[in-house]
Amino acid sequence: MSEPTSSIEVDPTDEAGVTSAVERALAEIETASDLDELKVVRLAHTGEKSPLALANRKIGGLDKAQKAVAGKLVGQARGRVNKAVAARTSVLEEERDARILVDEAVDVTAATRRTRLGGRHPLTNLMDRIGDVFVGMGWEIADGPELEHEWFNFDSLNFKPDHPARQLQDTFFVDPPSSHLVMRTHTSPVQMRSLLERELPVYVVCPGKTYRTDELDATHTPVFHQVEGLAVDEGLSMADLKGTLTHFARVMFGEEAQIRLRPNYFPFTEPSAELDVWHPTAKGGPRWIEWGGCGMVHPNVLRAAGIDPERYSGFAFGMGIERTLMFRNNVPDMHDMVEGDIRFSEHFGMEI
Ligand code: PHE
Repeated sequence: MSEPTSSIEVDPTDEAGVTSAVERALAEIETASDLDELKVVRLAHTGEKSPLALANRKIGGLDKAQKAVAGKLVGQARGRVNKAVAARTSVLEEERDARILVDEAVDVTAATRRTRLGGRHPLTNLMDRIGDVFVGMGWEIADGPELEHEWFNFDSLNFKPDHPARQLQDTFFVDPPSSHLVMRTHTSPVQMRSLLERELPVYVVCPGKTYRTDELDATHTPVFHQVEGLAVDEGLSMADLKGTLTHFARVMFGEEAQIRLRPNYFPFTEPSAELDVWHPTAKGGPRWIEWGGCGMVHPNVLRAAGIDPERYSGFAFGMGIERTLMFRNNVPDMHDMVEGDIRFSEHFGMEI
């Protein structure tokens, strides 16, 4: 943009001078390339200090005949300039609007970057939900290490050193043998840890990973999950165990679910029972399914934790999370649970 020529003085009676002031103004208005430039030009040529405004002021001092001629001349001159400014303004505004439309255009059909969100594994969600059931009854969540000392996994739970149950557990022993470390074969070692760490009474659930030397097939996996439950208080009986498990079964399998206890053997409970659940909505029709193990905490376990079995009693239970998911959601094959294919998890909803 050239310098504004707005400092040139104009005589209101000089027709040529007025005309050239108008032409200078029109030329600058026409060359203003955007609204900011036009604003500067407009102030210079139509503002109070512009040549034509100053010329207009001088008209007052003229005699009557000159006044009429000069008034018309300057009035028309200012009218032309104002019109030109208005016309240029609308052209530049249109240009600006068109440019904004291009600059800010969004292609709603453009392909997006589709980074897939991960999903929590349904086993994780199920463990959380089980935790919630017990927290809702005032229990606490407990946990313990997956690499566990043999004392917690076996000895403290009343497995004798030569007890056949030890071999039955298909244990992953960790080198060197002198470390006495194993990958925990069940979540029951958390029973002992909880009793040693907490004040009585104790009401805890522990969902977590467990390990056995099984081959992966449709119903087995060497790494699986259990949920352990333990209650130790004064006056607990088998009735409390049954009531708790019935409630748990109904939350998991529906209001019509029932439980059934069959005599069994575990070193750390006496009496011990196999726990079956009546699954009212099982695929292929309602039926009993084996769900886990349970029993009254063995006095030797209480003694190992320094608790007087004459005063306190307790019950415990443990069940497989994979089995629970299989029966709740009709997952026929364990492979789907361990392969980590997001398409499997997506079926269960993407809880965060
Ligand atoms: N720990 C046992 C198992 O893995 C289950 C169980 C837990 C039994 C608690 C009784 C009490 O089979």
